[in-house]
Amino acid sequence: MTPRHSRIAGVGSYLPQKVLTNAALEAMVETSDAWIKERTGIAKRHIAADGEYTSDLGAEAARRALDHAGLVPGDVDLIIVATATPDLTFPATATIVQDKLGITEGAAFDVQAVCSGFLYALTTADNFIRCGQAKTALVIGAETFSRILDWTDRTTCVLFGDGAGAVVLTAEDGSPEETGQGVLKTHLRSDGRFKDLLYVDGGPSQTKTVGHLRMQGNQVYRHAVTKIAGSMTELAEMAGIGIDEVDWVVPHQANQRILLGVANRLNIPVEQVVSTVAEHGNTSAASIPLALDAAIQDGRIQRGQLILMEALGGGFTWGAALARY
Ligand code: UT7
Repeated sequence: MTPRHSRIAGVGSYLPQKVLTNAALEAMVETSDAWIKERTGIAKRHIAADGEYTSDLGAEAARRALDHAGLVPGDVDLIIVATATPDLTFPATATIVQDKLGITEGAAFDVQAVCSGFLYALTTADNFIRCGQAKTALVIGAETFSRILDWTDRTTCVLFGDGAGAVVLTAEDGSPEETGQGVLKTHLRSDGRFKDLLYVDGGPSQTKTVGHLRMQGNQVYRHAVTKIAGSMTELAEMAGIGIDEVDWVVPHQANQRILLGVANRLNIPVEQVVSTVAEHGNTSAASIPLALDAAIQDGRIQRGQLILMEALGGGFTWGAALARY
């Protein structure tokens, strides 16, 4: 069989219109703009409107990614939505997105790895394409975390926001090394022993409720820097690439201090780290494609450049992905 790989053909993102500033949060919980900016780098977050669901955000990001790729919904034969905030317990948000895009062919399903979800979805789609089971995949990270926040808990409610990002992957013959574009390698990890540090205290089976996000932030922080840096190092070794060859790091946008902590540990210049956390806070699975889209739209990331994506989330789950854009 001719070797195949997946190429990032297009990227798109969507943020809901309503903005919640740090100043507005000061009126809701005992916090301050100064504390939030200093500890996290976040200045504002976007909040989905009543009646606006994860699938709406995901479908809009997908439309923009398809436009960017010069493709139409009918070209798509695989949709994977990474989300921890699905519209409903079932059906999968991916099938709702599929319907909103008017697609009736191919397969659609959700992936649940919280903030690492986009990397899990990207890896899954890349493998589908490599083995010949899909030709054009929409990989979407979409979240409405505002719906699972405890708005009286200042330790969590200031950190998260709503949004979506999407990439279109297309099947290409040959290897990415030969063509100069494509997903090179990905690295996924999980360790369920850490589930109590970051979780939602509700769900259909245990409580029959949706629940609220709970996090031991400072402990998650400690694990995030070491585990993410470890994953990036292992991935670069697997790919036979030096970290110093990477043009751009596109991280999960949880906290500016985590982004910089990882970069420092690996001697990556901060100018090469794409940061959008100030603009939208932590949007979980949506944050990597949101950052990727921002840096492509403003011309920083150019075709053929080497990008390294990374994330850690509830579970814990974590990982990294290397691609030539
Ligand atoms: O995306 C999934 C992965 N999630 C993450 O990566 C998040 C990782 N964690 C973090 O980003 C940081 O740990 C936080 C931003 C959540 C917290 O920053 P920190 O520097 O670790 O602060 P802390 O939790 O140690 O709290 C320091 C102080 C505490 O007060 P005392 O005990 O020192 O008196 C908190 O009660 O800050 C207080 N505090 C706040 N003060 C004002 C906590 N939240 C707030 C707040 N406003 N919103």
